[in-house]
Amino acid sequence: MRKPLMAGNWKMNKTIPDAVSFIKELKNTVADVKDVEILVCPTFTALYAVNNELKNSSAKLGAQNIFWEEKGAFTGEISPSMLKDAGCSYVIIGHSERRQYFGETDETVNKKTKAAIAAGLIPIVCVGETLKEREENITFKIIEKQVKEGIANLSVQEAENIVIAYEPVWAIGTGKTATPEQAQEVHEFIRKIYRQMYATAADKVRILYGGSVNPCNVSDLMKKNDIDGGLVGGASLKIEDFAKLINFAK
Ligand code: 13P
Repeated sequence: MRKPLMAGNWKMNKTIPDAVSFIKELKNTVADVKDVEILVCPTFTALYAVNNELKNSSAKLGAQNIFWEEKGAFTGEISPSMLKDAGCSYVIIGHSERRQYFGETDETVNKKTKAAIAAGLIPIVCVGETLKEREENITFKIIEKQVKEGIANLSVQEAENIVIAYEPVWAIGTGKTATPEQAQEVHEFIRKIYRQMYATAADKVRILYGGSVNPCNVSDLMKKNDIDGGLVGGASLKIEDFAKLINFAK
């Protein structure tokens, strides 16, 4: 059984005080949740403070980016062990916003994925097609390349412990969610590709859906066989909405 994971990607939002007060509320609101893993991914500057606030809570901490080198002259970058040091157990890699605005490629995604694993972090590797690619009917081709190149060269054991996030670019921040059927179709495809690469790891790897997930659509998405959770932007910034997402089965 794959434990559902509800992950909040806060993107470039919330000051340190805002982040800490959100976590205080979150802890009270979801204290009794056992069957869903909860993850928050604040900005780098809030990681340490959020980690302190998360003590005695089952919710986990993740970062939104990472660099693959351990240390050295890389101005502005953050290494895997620095993220561990700040209390992270997860890191989002290759988000479409990073691919689109900061030149990330499947090659850099793979370097970051391997560096994260080596440091004991769980990577959440993001894949997804643009609207143009969907309209050209090349969604599967794009996803296959992103999975095969971005998540290449892992051991089966490493492969089963990572997380993949399918985030169709046209559904991010647009209010236009993929239908549960559209999402399931791609999730099933990702698991098929992953089976060719890593055999039985495909049954264990969790595949999250991301793109305008909200309290109204979450339960229908989560009913699908290959959807193991959500990677949520906008709706993870408001405590009432995020709590509803975490309690999707109620
Ligand atoms: P929204 O939930 O705001 O569409 O963002 C999705 C996303 O990019 C999560 O990583």
